[in-house]
Amino acid sequence: MKVNTLFAALGAAHALAASGPQPPPSVATSRQPSKTILPALSEILAVQATARPASPTSDVKGVAFDRIVQIWLENIDFEDAENDPNMSWIGDHGLLLSNYFAVTHPSQPNYAAAVGGDHFGMDHDEFISIPANVSTVVDLLDTRGISWGEYMEDLPYAGYDGMNFSNQATLEDDYVRKHNPLMLYDSVAHNVTRTRQIKNFTGFADDLDARTIPQWSFVTPNMTNDAHDTNITFAASWTRGFLEPLLENPYFMENTLIIVSFDENWLWPKPNRVFTVLLGGAIDTSLHGAVDDMFYSHYSTISTVSVNWDLPSLGRWDCGANVLGPVAAKAGYRNTNISLDRLHFNASYPGPVADFQHTPGWWPAPNTRARCASGRGVLPAVAAVWGADQPGSYDYTNVYPYNGHAGVDVGGTPVAGSADAASDGGGPEMSESSRCHPAPVSAAGAARQDTAILAALLGVVMVVVALLL
Ligand SMILES: *[C@@H]1O[C@H](CO)[C@@H](O)[C@H](O)[C@H]1NC(C)=O
Ligand SMILES: *[C@@H]1O[C@H](CO)[C@@H](O)[C@H](O)[C@H]1NC(C)=O
Ligand SMILES: *[C@@H]1O[C@H](CO)[C@@H](O)[C@H](O)[C@H]1NC(C)=O
Ligand SMILES: *[C@@H]1O[C@H](CO)[C@@H](O)[C@H](O)[C@H]1NC(C)=O
Ligand SMILES: *[C@@H]1O[C@H](CO)[C@@H](O)[C@H](O)[C@H]1NC(C)=O
Ligand SMILES: *[C@@H]1O[C@H](CO)[C@@H](O)[C@H](O)[C@H]1NC(C)=O
Ligand SMILES: *[C@@H]1O[C@H](CO)[C@@H](O)[C@H](O)[C@H]1NC(C)=O
Ligand SMILES: *[C@@H]1O[C@H](CO)[C@@H](O)[C@H](O)[C@H]1NC(C)=O
Ligand SMILES: *[C@@H]1O[C@H](CO)[C@@H](O)[C@H](O)[C@H]1NC(C)=O
Repeated sequence: MKVNTLFAALGAAHALAASGPQPPPSVATSRQPSKTILPALSEILAVQATARPASPTSDVKGVAFDRIVQIWLENIDFEDAENDPNMSWIGDHGLLLSNYFAVTHPSQPNYAAAVGGDHFGMDHDEFISIPANVSTVVDLLDTRGISWGEYMEDLPYAGYDGMNFSNQATLEDDYVRKHNPLMLYDSVAHNVTRTRQIKNFTGFADDLDARTIPQWSFVTPNMTNDAHDTNITFAASWTRGFLEPLLENPYFMENTLIIVSFDENWLWPKPNRVFTVLLGGAIDTSLHGAVDDMFYSHYSTISTVSVNWDLPSLGRWDCGANVLGPVAAKAGYRNTNISLDRLHFNASYPGPVADFQHTPGWWPAPNTRARCASGRGVLPAVAAVWGADQPGSYDYTNVYPYNGHAGVDVGGTPVAGSADAASDGGGPEMSESSRCHPAPVSAAGAARQDTAILAALLGVVMVVVALLL
């Protein structure tokens, strides 16, 4: 069925719902491209001469870690990473997550998702500017003054907003904007205070020396080192070389959670599972070499930050995402174990930044009613933009992302007896209409939230009882 026809039919069904957002008014098969920022070398060098990076610091204690550093490599299947001796070495120095998933293809939407809680339908690597009224994880961190920054190898200067900075001797791809998650968002890219915190590896070395590594950071090696233009042998060797001295550095390690992961896998027909290891001082040595088979996704990195520092949610796919195991354990958060049957996470759904299934001017509304993983509800700025009583355009409280309307990843079923019922959202037992996006808030949805609250209360009671015994 043509996507447009599908939307028209489902739109009619949803007109019956009294509340909830309207479906996208239309779906186009192409998008007007954004204007690509591509400065000339002379302009870049002129700004480079004066640009000054900034390294604010803070010391906000978290439940399970005081610093998080994410390092992303590129485009490798789980098994190929697992079989590399240097990736195994990394696994032996941390906790391997064997069911951590990317959320779509190609690269850019995965980077966008890891900081914004959605990929907004993105299905390409072109220049994109997500409007300033869309919040990211840095807005969550800012609520408590938690310092953050990015380290992008070979970024020519702090805050560079161009599409790429190639190796000027060989013109090989080097720094690429598509791997710079925060620059995709105008809320960061148009704020000079913020862009000065987007630094290169010179900045990383300086911050390490000056002990000014922020509490949240994202590290992107260049296109050679991250495997994009090379292979896992090369990238794993680089990563080990980068990490090995850091793992010996008491300042860097102290209560730090390091996440080594990949943006996406290589073969798109395979489920989009990526080799991911948690290391650093926040991971107890008893867990080194162990494997956690709970389901996680890139959205888990945001829910984990929210739970760790008691921050609100973006009200998007971060809302109900499983919290990384060691953090969930310390926070008393119960994750949902799901069946992975029929879940691929290998395609985007229609959205405002999609090329193929573009929804002109229509942005999915976040869920501003839900309490989300940390129990803090959504960021006030998000509620201010969308209203405090938004059910959300998708079933954003679900533990994994799916889109019933577009038939993307609707197949998952919760494992019988799993922690909470939130994952019912994608279950085949639901009626076709209730799986559609925009998701109407059903009685079942409300009941699910009540069940989750009861489960949480029961958890608290059990912990208290356990402490008394
Ligand atoms: C967010 O900003 C975009 C771009 O300016 C605008 O089109 C959209 O209507 C805004 N959304 C809301 C909910 O205010
Ligand atoms: C890194 O950024 C700094 C500060 O903006 C700049 O001075 C320096 O030249 C950059 N280093 C590289 C290798 O591009
Ligand atoms: C960006 O990439 C294009 C295409 O490869 C190249 O021609 C251009 O020189 C690059 N720009 C910079 C600033 O490196
Ligand atoms: C990537 O960085 C490494 C040093 O870490 C350097 O040797 C390599 O030339 C860089 N890649 C490109 C394309 O410039
Ligand atoms: C710019 O960024 C700073 C630091 O994150 C923040 O405090 C400020 O509110 C931002 N300004 C705007 C207009 O968003
Ligand atoms: C991996 O990439 C490196 C750097 O490009 C290259 O020298 C090496 O031959 C490649 N190895 C394989 C197995 O392709
Ligand atoms: C592992 O990485 C180290 C550098 O970190 C490198 O010297 C070694 O050759 C790599 N081993 C393999 C098998 O790739
Ligand atoms: C996603 O994976 C499924 C199952 O292998 C496959 O049928 C489908 O074509 C894949 N989608 C894309 C966009 O590659
Ligand atoms: C999740 O459920 C599966 C199937 O019952 C089980 O094999 C797996 O160990 C469970 N994982 C966790 C982390 O509980």
